[in-house]
Amino acid sequence: MKSWKLMNNAITPAQRQRLSDFVLTADRFSQGDEVRRFEEQWSEWQGCKYSVFCNSGSSANFLIVQAMKELHSDTNHLWIAPATTWATTVSPIMMSGQALQLCDVTIPSMNLCLDSFKQILYQHKRSFGARPKFLFLAHLLGFNSMSDELIHLCDENNITILEDCCESHGATFSGKKIGNFGRASSFSFYYGHHMTTIEGGMVCTDDEEVYEKLLLIRSHGLLRELPPYMQVKYKDQKVDENFTFMVPGYNMRSTDFNAVLGQMQLKQLDKHNEIRRDNFGVFANGLDKDKFYTDFKVEGNSSFCFPVITKSTRGDTLALRKHLESQGVETRPIIAGNLYEHPFMNRVNQYRHDKNAEVIHQNGFYIGNNHAVDAGDVTWLVEKLNAWKGKQ
Ligand SMILES: Cc1ncc(COP(=O)(O)O)c(C=O)c1O
Repeated sequence: MKSWKLMNNAITPAQRQRLSDFVLTADRFSQGDEVRRFEEQWSEWQGCKYSVFCNSGSSANFLIVQAMKELHSDTNHLWIAPATTWATTVSPIMMSGQALQLCDVTIPSMNLCLDSFKQILYQHKRSFGARPKFLFLAHLLGFNSMSDELIHLCDENNITILEDCCESHGATFSGKKIGNFGRASSFSFYYGHHMTTIEGGMVCTDDEEVYEKLLLIRSHGLLRELPPYMQVKYKDQKVDENFTFMVPGYNMRSTDFNAVLGQMQLKQLDKHNEIRRDNFGVFANGLDKDKFYTDFKVEGNSSFCFPVITKSTRGDTLALRKHLESQGVETRPIIAGNLYEHPFMNRVNQYRHDKNAEVIHQNGFYIGNNHAVDAGDVTWLVEKLNAWKGKQ
């Protein structure tokens, strides 16, 4: 029997050795040179000015929302986010007391559905005379969700785009890495993602004002966390400069240990993404379009996994998952499916736009794609899926 896990051998023996050497010899473990080096290397890879390393992708999203709140605190704003995403794309918005409107997504690439987005703009304007201020766009499962039309709509309606790239490291739109289109973007380095720091996340931005808020909020709100050139303008504070708290902050720092791993993993990222992309090509080309949704947005994809969305019923889909699990293939739902199906959404009371999200919820699941998977494995998987009888 196969043993096809979501992720395999993400940390190599050489990397484990280097980590143990670091523990034995280092004299600084938090906010030291390794964190700074990792942030610099990540900025170079991502092609952005500033990167802020934190302890998870969820914290990265939280930092982004709080930074926007600090910079636009005149009132509570309306945020739009996809109806299918991970819970912690939207939780920080809800926790900050701001309004949330979910927008449907497309099948099978989970891009923001532009028809739904346009209706939402119209509905809010008609009912409340209000416009959404922020779009927290999530590029899911490695598919880029950016489009010229979306950029145009946001420009026209004065909507600030933030990007959740936690599942899409290295995905591109028009040849440019996603995460560089919005005012800030987030990445996750959780174990099952394109690269890992075990737990960890990064926020990227080109905006110095946003960068300043991210640094403060990541670390208790402390003035001394800012680079000296930024501290200067606040120097007349009447409290000790070591412990001057500038904004309500938290502790979302990671450690130098995790940053050492991040630097090593980053060196492999492009190579691993290429393997994932090639695997995904075999999957997308081989899948039976009568049984599954196969019209994937392949361009710019940085595959996270193999999404399977059946054209059958939920019962049949669950039976297929069970069959694959019995063959040693681990499966998961397509992240949160339809967020509206989850109890925590009971408190979100806006226009409902989740038709496609519901199909994904009922008939979707995914299988891990990682650098240990090869074309032979994918062919085996595709044959298994295509041999499935479909609707019973
Ligand atoms: C789209 C998305 N956003 C945010 C997160 C949160 O990342 P983390 O697990 O590092 O907190 C995830 C996690 O998988 C995710 O898939």
